[in-house]
Amino acid sequence: MSQPDHGVRSLLEASELAAIAHRLGGEIRRDYPDGVVVVALLKGSICFLADLVRELPGPCELDFLALSSYGDGRTRVRVVKDLDLDVSGRDVVVVLDIVDTGLTLAYVLRLIALRGARSAAACALLDRQSRRLLPVEVRYVGQVISDEHVVGYGLDLDERYRNLPGLQVADEADLRSKPPAMFERLWRR
Ligand code: IMP
Ligand code: MG
Repeated sequence: MSQPDHGVRSLLEASELAAIAHRLGGEIRRDYPDGVVVVALLKGSICFLADLVRELPGPCELDFLALSSYGDGRTRVRVVKDLDLDVSGRDVVVVLDIVDTGLTLAYVLRLIALRGARSAAACALLDRQSRRLLPVEVRYVGQVISDEHVVGYGLDLDERYRNLPGLQVADEADLRSKPPAMFERLWRR
């Protein structure tokens, strides 16, 4: 890990991200030797998904789901992009960037159960267990993290910073108030 720099630091280096994808891809392959439907939750999971499926040495089908949260405290969730595949009778692994309160994952698991999947498990790059509001099981966890905002490698703040190659931690107020300067600072550091 890099040295702290006014609240800016690298959370996981490229080699650590690669090791996580390799480890979790192997675990999923071991648990689903006959294949699995991988459902990626847009948009935050895109980089992790791309690395994970290329480290999953077994049959898999890919689909995407996008949700949007709204309402008081943004605790209500609706589907913005639904599944294309029929998952009834199938084993599904949901791939997420991060599980925070667990509300999103709980919603997704319920939706997939309603569609008649035989089983559904979650695979998250990051798990912020300290903020959980709902008790959801995350079977495949890349890394447990503390309560700091993470950007890059697909993760955003107000839709920015997703294209930073690595996972970075920075002060949320700085990320929000001065995006060009912060982007510059975080890019390939
Ligand atoms: P939950 O419903 O509270 O578990 O929130 C999950 C979603 O919130 C994730 O899929 C992310 O899109 C977003 N999120 C939570 N924490 C962070 C973060 O630190 N960086 C970027 N996105 C986050
Ligand atoms: Mg977001």
